[in-house]
Amino acid sequence: MRVKICMGSNCTLLGAMSLLDQIEGLKEVFDEDNERYNDEELEIEAVSCMNYCKKTDATIAPVVAIDDEVIFNATGQIVMEKIMGKKKK
Ligand code: FES
Repeated sequence: MRVKICMGSNCTLLGAMSLLDQIEGLKEVFDEDNERYNDEELEIEAVSCMNYCKKTDATIAPVVAIDDEVIFNATGQIVMEKIMGKKKK
């Protein structure tokens, strides 16, 4: 699973850094509990502006992409739930 966190200025202002920290924390949880979670690799990538913010006047930051799914106004809770859902055995 590949998780991209937008680190462009709009997304950083609205909390992307904290999302990155939380997702990196999850990686340790998965590594320690391979009974409960499958061994699909969790790749975390901090990327520059994904350009979604330039296509709208609405507030969509922070933006996180989990594989092909793009999440606008991403919160720690939403992102964690989606990643956990994909990692559960
Ligand atoms: S800063 Fe995140 S989409 Fe532009």
